[in-house]
Amino acid sequence: MELIKQIFERNKNWISERLQNDADYFHRLSQGQSPEILYIGCSDSRVTAEDMMGANPGEVFVHRNVANQVVPTDANLNAVVQFAVEYLKVRHIVICGHYGCGGIQAALHPTDMGQLNNWLQGLRDVYRLHADELNAIKDEEKKVDRLVELNVQEQAINIAKMDHVQKAQAKNSGRPQIHGWVLNIRNGKLIDLKLNVNKAFSEIKNIYEIRE
Ligand code: CO
Repeated sequence: MELIKQIFERNKNWISERLQNDADYFHRLSQGQSPEILYIGCSDSRVTAEDMMGANPGEVFVHRNVANQVVPTDANLNAVVQFAVEYLKVRHIVICGHYGCGGIQAALHPTDMGQLNNWLQGLRDVYRLHADELNAIKDEEKKVDRLVELNVQEQAINIAKMDHVQKAQAKNSGRPQIHGWVLNIRNGKLIDLKLNVNKAFSEIKNIYEIRE
């Protein structure tokens, strides 16, 4: 059967499965959401955000784009972050990359990708910032994997620079907390990079403090 048709069949099965376990399931979902986590990850079809976390509907607010970029002029991302932080009051913000990321590979091997040239420009800056470390890695796969990790680190710092996030952290004793994760697509394992974003960021004055 064609995938599009299959999806509507799968949807019927999903509804009956859910209702079998909990007759009140959809009624409860319709009452609103209060997710604890804002997840920002890659659009890659293999990196299924909720699936790999075993997350249920209502638990994670999700934003995905190519190579999990945090671009300060991205109106979409800004709206997502402000809504998640100010209205949903998420306690955690996760930036999640993945090994084998096509966007990261593209940044290492410049080719003309149209609109993606511009979108992935920030990755070339991540490379430039960490060029000594990256150039010392001879194995191509390991090099791409390391750039995936460093990209997560830099995007996490970009999140920490956002005024919505800084205002919330100033009000709520450091919450939301910022995390950097990588999915190892080769074995499904989720890796916590254990970033200390605040430490990396401490030399830059808090925007919120400047405004006060
Ligand atoms: Co990717």
